[in-house]
Amino acid sequence: MPSIAVVQGASRGIGLQFCRTLLQRTEVNVIATCRCPDQALDLNCLYKEHKERLNVMKMDVTQEDAIKETAEMVEQQFKKVDLLINCAAMLHPSGRGETSLRDVSFEGVQATLATNTIGPLLMAKYFSPMLSKGSGSFGLHSSNKKETHSGILVNMSARVGSISDNGLGGWYSYRMSKSALNMATRNLSIELRRRSKGKVICIALHPGTVNTDLSRPYHRNVPKEKLFSTLHSVECMMAVISKLTLMDSGKYFAFDGTKIPF
Ligand SMILES: NC(=O)c1ccc[n+]([C@@H]2O[C@H](COP(=O)([O-])OP(=O)(O)OC[C@H]3O[C@@H](n4cnc5c(N)ncnc54)[C@H](OP(=O)(O)O)[C@@H]3O)[C@@H](O)[C@H]2O)c1
Repeated sequence: MPSIAVVQGASRGIGLQFCRTLLQRTEVNVIATCRCPDQALDLNCLYKEHKERLNVMKMDVTQEDAIKETAEMVEQQFKKVDLLINCAAMLHPSGRGETSLRDVSFEGVQATLATNTIGPLLMAKYFSPMLSKGSGSFGLHSSNKKETHSGILVNMSARVGSISDNGLGGWYSYRMSKSALNMATRNLSIELRRRSKGKVICIALHPGTVNTDLSRPYHRNVPKEKLFSTLHSVECMMAVISKLTLMDSGKYFAFDGTKIPF
C-alpha cells in the first residue's frame, strides 16, 4: 500500500510546493485539496505531470460538510493517511494585517479564525481516524523502529503566533488565529497520543518568511536573505518532518528545527 499525504490548501504558495516536492522526492500518493481547482492553474499543470500519484479534490476549509465529504472520499479510496499538512490560511480578508484597534472588525477576525484555526481543527476531527491507521512513513521519514507512531499532522503556523515572542503587536486576527492553532495542536497531540495503537504526531510549524502572496505586501521590509523561496522553505520543513518522533508531538517548530516558545 503506497504512503498517502494530504495537503490542504494546495492551490498556490507553500501548499503547492509541498505537493511538488513530495511528488518529486518521494513515492507517496498526494491528495491536494483546494477550494477552486479550476482556477488553480499551477496545480493543474502538476496534475498533468503526475496523474497517477496526484489527486485533486475540491474543498473549502471553512465548510465542515465539505471537509467531512472529502474525508469520506479519502477513506473510501485510500483507507489511511500518513501525512496531513494543513496549509490554507489568510493574513486578513483585506490582505493586510491590522495595525491598530481601529482596523479590527468582527468580520475580519471571524473570517481569519475560520480559515486559519477552525478549518485545521475540523480537518483533524475528520482525518485523525485515518492518521491513526497511517504507517507514518512517506519516503523521507527516517522512522525510529523502537517507537510506534502512526500518521503525522502538521499545522502550518507562524512565528507571530507566539505570545511570548510578541514584541511588536499588530495583526490581531492573524496572530490570534495562529496562537489558537498552536493551542489546538497541543490539545490534539494529547488526545491523539492516548490511543494504545495509532499514536499520531501533531506539530505546529513555522515556514520562515516565504515569497508568497500572503506575505507579499511586506516583502520590501524583509532582508533578501531572509525571504525564502517556497522550494527552500519546504525543503527545510521536510527535513524537520522527516526526523519527528513521538517526543516531538505537541511542539512548535521553526523551519530549521529550532523550538519556538509558545
Ligand atoms: N508566506 C509566509 O511568509 C508565511 C509565514 C508564516 C506562516 N505562513 C503560513 O504558511 C501557510 C501557507 O501560506 P502561503 O504563504 O503559502 O499563503 P498563500 O500563497 O497566500 O496561499 C494561501 C492558500 O490558502 C488557501 N485558502 C485560503 N482560504 C481557503 C479556504 N477557505 N479553503 C481552502 N483554501 C483556502 C488559498 O487558496 P485560494 O487559491 O483558493 O485562495 C491558498 O492556496 C499559511 O498557513 C500561512 O499562515 C506563511
